[in-house]
Amino acid sequence: METKTLKATLKSGRKMPIVGFGTYQIRGTSLIRDVLDYALGAGYRSIDTAAVYGNETDIGSALKTLLPKYNLKREDIFITTKLSPSDHGEKALDAVKQSLKNLDCGYLDLYLIHWPGQSRLSIHDPSNIAIRAKTWEKLIEAKKQGLVKDIGVSNYTIKHLEELDKSNSEIPAVNQVEWHPFYHQSDLKNYCKQKGILLQAYSSLGGTNNPDLMTNEVVVEIAKNLNKSPSQVLLKWAVQQGVGIIPKARSKSHIEENINLDFEIPEKDLDKLNNIGTMTKFAWDPTDVA
Ligand SMILES: NC(=O)c1ccc[n+]([C@@H]2O[C@H](COP(=O)([O-])OP(=O)(O)OC[C@H]3O[C@@H](n4cnc5c(N)ncnc54)[C@H](OP(=O)(O)O)[C@@H]3O)[C@@H](O)[C@H]2O)c1
Repeated sequence: METKTLKATLKSGRKMPIVGFGTYQIRGTSLIRDVLDYALGAGYRSIDTAAVYGNETDIGSALKTLLPKYNLKREDIFITTKLSPSDHGEKALDAVKQSLKNLDCGYLDLYLIHWPGQSRLSIHDPSNIAIRAKTWEKLIEAKKQGLVKDIGVSNYTIKHLEELDKSNSEIPAVNQVEWHPFYHQSDLKNYCKQKGILLQAYSSLGGTNNPDLMTNEVVVEIAKNLNKSPSQVLLKWAVQQGVGIIPKARSKSHIEENINLDFEIPEKDLDKLNNIGTMTKFAWDPTDVA
């Protein structure tokens, strides 16, 4: 099956495209309309946003004209958004409603807790534990009310995931985390697999304007041998291991390149990428969030 149409089955039985389109730092009505036009034209059917990205309203209004343009219905696309870390706890249900209003798309496919801590608390404050448990209750309520089809988390470590498991609560459908050859953890991947949680990678290319991964000599050499670009190798590396991806790009050529992943990375090269020997995290680190 083409990577473009490849889907993961979530715990609920609903399907989520393995390749999604990331929108962090892409803002403004016309820019959003242009990138989503390129993305839908290239075959992306999943869009990742967040309350804190400040682009939900523009995404919602762009889809009003772009879905008919590509002869798509609401159910043909998968929309993910995330809770602002300032809206943890009692405010979470209202935050879901606000995101849904902004996106104006009837229902959300997936709603994630963006970060395991409440932004007004120190990451070391143990009150984070009770607050995110309350948030999770509210998201379960949002699901019951039909506002969102699936709920999940982001930047959760095994410790954070285990809390939900121990409290016999609903297990998240997805855990979206930083994941690339410079930063990946096999214990987290194994834990998610065992619990049926889809692991989804962010910053697969190193994040905005960061050439470190795309110029890494192991990545470049493998790309050269396969006649692919370093970005395609970095993305396929995740997909081949059953990890979802949400690359972000503004240019049409990058957007098209990032979903054109119909090639195989040989096992020996996957091993090289898995053992690149660098542990560098580029985005925020949840390890110490209580
Ligand atoms: N849950 C979280 O905490 C979290 C954190 C970070 C990100 N995310 C999500 O994950 C998405 C992706 O992560 P990210 O935004 O950090 O960045 P990323 O996807 O790792 O990289 C984006 C950067 O790579 C460049 N790029 C894209 N395709 C390229 C290509 N084919 N060749 C060369 N350069 C290319 C982009 O440039 P151009 O724009 O110029 O094309 C941009 O500067 C985000 O947009 C967001 O949706 C979630």
